[in-house]
Amino acid sequence: MKLLVTGGAGYIGSVVAAQLLEAGHEVVVLDDCSTGHADAVPAGAPLVRATLREAAGDVLSEGFDGVLHFAAKSLVGESVEKPGLYWDKNLGESLALLDAMRAHHTPRIVFSSTAATYGEPERTPILETDPTRPTNPYGASKLAIDTTLAEYARLYGIGGVSLRYFNVAGAYGAYGERHTVETHLIPNVLAVPLGRRESVSIFGTDYPTADGTCVRDYIHVVDLAVAHLLALDACAPGEHEIFNLGSGSGYSVREVIDVCREVTGEPIPAAESPRRPGDPAVLIASSAKITDRLGWKPERDLRAMVADAWEFIRS
Ligand code: UFG
Repeated sequence: MKLLVTGGAGYIGSVVAAQLLEAGHEVVVLDDCSTGHADAVPAGAPLVRATLREAAGDVLSEGFDGVLHFAAKSLVGESVEKPGLYWDKNLGESLALLDAMRAHHTPRIVFSSTAATYGEPERTPILETDPTRPTNPYGASKLAIDTTLAEYARLYGIGGVSLRYFNVAGAYGAYGERHTVETHLIPNVLAVPLGRRESVSIFGTDYPTADGTCVRDYIHVVDLAVAHLLALDACAPGEHEIFNLGSGSGYSVREVIDVCREVTGEPIPAAESPRRPGDPAVLIASSAKITDRLGWKPERDLRAMVADAWEFIRS
């Protein structure tokens, strides 16, 4: 297929673009490189360096079989400070993309949604049918895009799949996580043995969990990429489907730090710190729907995620 990858200069977008190329697809990347890196775009995928509003129409007018849509603002804290930015960049730019798809008859889209659409869950593991009550503008803007995709599918016949990621980690060779502002746990922990930080902060040790720290469902970015390829084939005209992507099991912050200590062989000092506002105690996905419908299953465990991230971060 001829595919447009928006946000293909970012962490997840670049890994998926590389895997699409390896699977034999033709890939064009559209990214304004505001948070991504031009040198992260895989060789073989031309980069159009522009926003979706500026260029989605022109690019799609060449004729594409589908879009994988990763381009977004994705910092929860920033979204609370600047909600307008998140509505504009996430929902507004996505509308421009969808209207360009309509205008140029692009038949399918796989969208990078998030567990943040659910907010604080009433129960775990979270099912796709559970209530969506986002607790920040980031999650709210992604939920609004999921809703818009359902409408565009119903009204205009586009085939859409929203993949709701839980905590993505790991790397794929030369493609990995390189955020200028790094908030994620695993890269922050690995920054310690690299000498970039003195210790890692544990945000909250009084949660109602076994060891008092937050529990999250980690998924390897390569398993995530595999799900995107399956989702692309599953897009049915006029239909919109939502699938969670996680492993169905969780690790606490302390357990993640311990795995990082094992993989790196370094002591990695940790400092107990107050809770980070807005963090739910436990987030675990049920991925039963995508397993049943598309045959997807995660194959790489937390140790593989940390080992691959460690390899990437040191290179
Ligand atoms: N944490 C620390 N120390 C750090 C960084 C994080 O203790 O230096 C803790 C957090 O408080 C949280 C856990 O580690 O309990 C995981 O935090 P991350 O920032 O790695 O990931 P989040 O669970 O906050 O966020 C992820 C995605 C978001 C998405 C969210 C949905 O990064 O984009 O899942 O649940 F919105």
